[in-house]
Amino acid sequence: MKTRLVHIKSFGCQMNKLDTALVKSALKEAGFDITESLKEADLVLFNTCSVRQHAEDRVIANLGHMKHLKKSKPHLVVGIMGCMAQRLGKELLEHEAVNLVVGPGQIPHIVSLLEAVMHDQGKQLDISNEIRQQAPDNPDLEAFESKHDSDDKQIPGQAFVRIMRGCNNFCTYCIVPYVRGPEISRPPQAIVEQIEKLAQAGVKQITLLGQTVNAYAYEDAGKTYDLADLLVLVSEVNGIEWIRFVTNYPIEDNFDRIMQAMADLPKVCNYLHMPAQSGSDGMLKAMNRRYTAEQYLDLLKHARAIVPDIAVAGDFIVGFPGETNEDFQKTAELVRQAQYKNCFVFKYSPRPGTTSDNRLEDNVSDAIKQQRNLDLLAVQESVSANLCQTFMGKTVKVLVEGLSKKPHVNAAEHNNLPQLIGRTATDWIVVFNGPETLAGHFAEVTINRVSPLTLFGDLASNT
Ligand code: 5AD
Ligand code: SF4
Repeated sequence: MKTRLVHIKSFGCQMNKLDTALVKSALKEAGFDITESLKEADLVLFNTCSVRQHAEDRVIANLGHMKHLKKSKPHLVVGIMGCMAQRLGKELLEHEAVNLVVGPGQIPHIVSLLEAVMHDQGKQLDISNEIRQQAPDNPDLEAFESKHDSDDKQIPGQAFVRIMRGCNNFCTYCIVPYVRGPEISRPPQAIVEQIEKLAQAGVKQITLLGQTVNAYAYEDAGKTYDLADLLVLVSEVNGIEWIRFVTNYPIEDNFDRIMQAMADLPKVCNYLHMPAQSGSDGMLKAMNRRYTAEQYLDLLKHARAIVPDIAVAGDFIVGFPGETNEDFQKTAELVRQAQYKNCFVFKYSPRPGTTSDNRLEDNVSDAIKQQRNLDLLAVQESVSANLCQTFMGKTVKVLVEGLSKKPHVNAAEHNNLPQLIGRTATDWIVVFNGPETLAGHFAEVTINRVSPLTLFGDLASNT
């Protein structure tokens, strides 16, 4: 009899990690076992990302490795899920090592597809043909999502819940609308029921996910529920203590209402992830972002007026086609003014089929992209270095995630207690020594040392 040990390797964003968790749950239900070891697996699934070329290159390198492995393990089944599966479809299926290609909209079929491969029915391909023509509801996907566990215990006490699928923004650089389809909001009732189930299983923090989470809109019986309404409903779930939502598109619609919900609802964390992408109006226009740098900063002013201690995080793309040094300096200036807690900086990567790739030449050299990436991170580091000082001597509440990467560091000086990592409601990373059993629980930590990205402290008490 064939064994059914599955290893899943996940790339990309939280959406993808969530899909991985759902697929793991479905596979377990169907009698497969999940293994962390690639070596002992009989089936290997790659949940892939297409957002930058680098993410795709890593998968292709992994497939080379799989091809090699299959020589000594001919029964090994290799499947590709996720955005790259949807983008490349048949082309990926032709790869010697690949048995199965399944798009993000087809994950409910994963078990039957794997079984077809295992029963020698040949290579299997299941992706959306007309991805932008999807119906606004997808009962298959909705049932799969509601049924399966999105709490894969990667970080104890925390779970992600998708509130929307897809995207309608068409930023010119972005592959997402072509691989995840049109924007569709899930019914509030389905979301709340799922969160109730997670709360009963011990989950304390929920992160609501959407490509443009602040555009959430669901019409039911003549009422349109927006994100602020949803935050109220999720706040009412017993057992859930912290609620986050990512990612926000910088637009005025509903913005103050959402910020007001953050201020009014104690469970909603004072944290806003809102990518600006650039500080140059010319670049923003070329990116088809529908705001100016001034409008973006104005939104942050509103956010801080309504939620004074809000922590803000951003994303930036450097080296977009035509970006001059002057454009880049405007981005650096925006980063100084925005006072982010942290920001993520990416080098522009042309994606086949997107508007910027079709119309604009990738004319900023990699060396300049690399330099701008470093320069922007340095600007942010000086902002963060200032912000983190405000924590010195303060006691903060954190949700403990588990062991830090180097749990043994300092353990000897702390009764052999390992180094743990946790996050504040405002998403600051806190490192301290304590018992590993604190993972998934809240703790109070008094901060005694700071660095731009991390706060360090001693356990004050745990709740
Ligand atoms: N090249 C580089 N970065 C990109 N992002 C999205 N598409 C691209 C691309 N083609 C970045 C954006 C987005 C984050 C998830 O990835 O900053 O916010
Ligand atoms: Fe996530 Fe976008 Fe990457 Fe797909 S392409 S995994 S939606 S970041």
